[in-house]
Amino acid sequence: QPRMTVRSVSSQQKSTVTTSVDEILTNLQKQCATPLPVLRHVADSMANDMRAGLAFDGGSDLKMILSYVDSLPTGNEKGLFYALDLGGTNFRVMRVQLGGIDQRVIATEAEQVSIPQELMFGTSEELFDFIASGLAKFAEKESGKYHLLEGTKRELGFTFSFPVKQTSIDSGILMKWTKGFAVSGTPGKDVVACLNEAMKRLGLDMQVSALVNDAVGTLAGAKYWDNDVMVAVILGTGTNACYVERMDAIPKQPTQTAHSGTTIINTEWGAFSTGLPLTEFDKQMDAESINPGEQIFEKTISGMYLGEIVRRVILRMAEAGSLFGNSIPEKLQTPFSIGTPHICAMQQDTSNSLDTVGSILFNEAGVESKTGARQIVMEVCDTISKRGGRLAGAGIVGILQKMEEDTKGLIFGKRTVVAMDGGLYENYPQYKNYLHNSVTEILGQKLSENIVIEHSKDGSGIGAALLAAANSKYKHTF
Ligand code: GLC
Repeated sequence: QPRMTVRSVSSQQKSTVTTSVDEILTNLQKQCATPLPVLRHVADSMANDMRAGLAFDGGSDLKMILSYVDSLPTGNEKGLFYALDLGGTNFRVMRVQLGGIDQRVIATEAEQVSIPQELMFGTSEELFDFIASGLAKFAEKESGKYHLLEGTKRELGFTFSFPVKQTSIDSGILMKWTKGFAVSGTPGKDVVACLNEAMKRLGLDMQVSALVNDAVGTLAGAKYWDNDVMVAVILGTGTNACYVERMDAIPKQPTQTAHSGTTIINTEWGAFSTGLPLTEFDKQMDAESINPGEQIFEKTISGMYLGEIVRRVILRMAEAGSLFGNSIPEKLQTPFSIGTPHICAMQQDTSNSLDTVGSILFNEAGVESKTGARQIVMEVCDTISKRGGRLAGAGIVGILQKMEEDTKGLIFGKRTVVAMDGGLYENYPQYKNYLHNSVTEILGQKLSENIVIEHSKDGSGIGAALLAAANSKYKHTF
């Protein structure tokens, strides 16, 4: 990153570079606008790129990864299973007791650990040792009432939320890191083998029975309760979507392995980039990121980046338009000093003098602000969250459209559920509203009547445990 210093703009400098704050805001709003034709174009492009990605590997930005989840949980699953979830700022371990068709999920216990920043830039062994030791500590607390049958091991569903080229339901190779991870040595390796080796180093005798992406886990978890779930979308630190696809609609996988004739495709839509309304702020953020040119949809709509885009805009307003007088504090110049939770909290401020906005700006960016400046900042937050939510909605419509074209009436002609999860969707009411409105706007009242977009809380953890059970290596009799 470039070195940042405190600068102050002299009045002479100011006059030569003056662009008014209003001008910057108007331009931003113009460039971020998502009128219906833009939304439609994004939805159509998403559907086209999906087809291209299904045709052959490398056919489009969308990897359209086969999940090898061909049989979804039926409800009959029984026994004690573990789930491990690695995908963002936290990692989570979970124990799920499944009681079969009548009792379903009898009990769950979970623990969450935040991932130390340095591990995101360390070595593969360090990261997997950390995860395995978290799992070992959690497993130690298992009460003695669950018997482990002779000759069996505890089984684990491993939710690993990065692009993985699955080679089977319980193995897959990391293609690349996303969401700010830059751990050396993992890309190109089987992540289940990495975890197994770390467990072995610790003497932890467990077995990974299912390796799943978080979107796939969410779909499996949500479908366990509601069979109309056909799509799952994650909007959190990163973003992704997966859906139920017919095996015969996947030209790049000619062998029909699925008993049910369907499978789940992990789109990795974070890499989508066609037709997006981008600004110079997006382009600069991308160029300075650790993965330039990659994950452009993710960088436009997901939680890791929305706050940073806002920071870049208000920094420009401060530098070129003196939004906060003459000083441009170091904090405001520091990448990622303003996070998406901050812009979300600012947008909830309904007080006349926008006190919350003022204190967030002071605490996070080091600036003293007047009410007028706070109003501008609110507008910037709204512009960026609106664009994000509306584009996410267009992406969802793109997936539904593709499915409808292939099945003629089976999507819009009956109840179809899109299961949503992730902190951004869960905690940012304006973003969520923009997303919902965008879907209705593109589809129209009539078509959107049958589409239910609903939150499936923590579905991916239980989903992974369910998939471990559905793909169990053993016959469970308890
Ligand atoms: C990133 C990952 C993807 C994951 C998503 C949401 O886009 O590449 O695998 O599903 O974030 O966590």
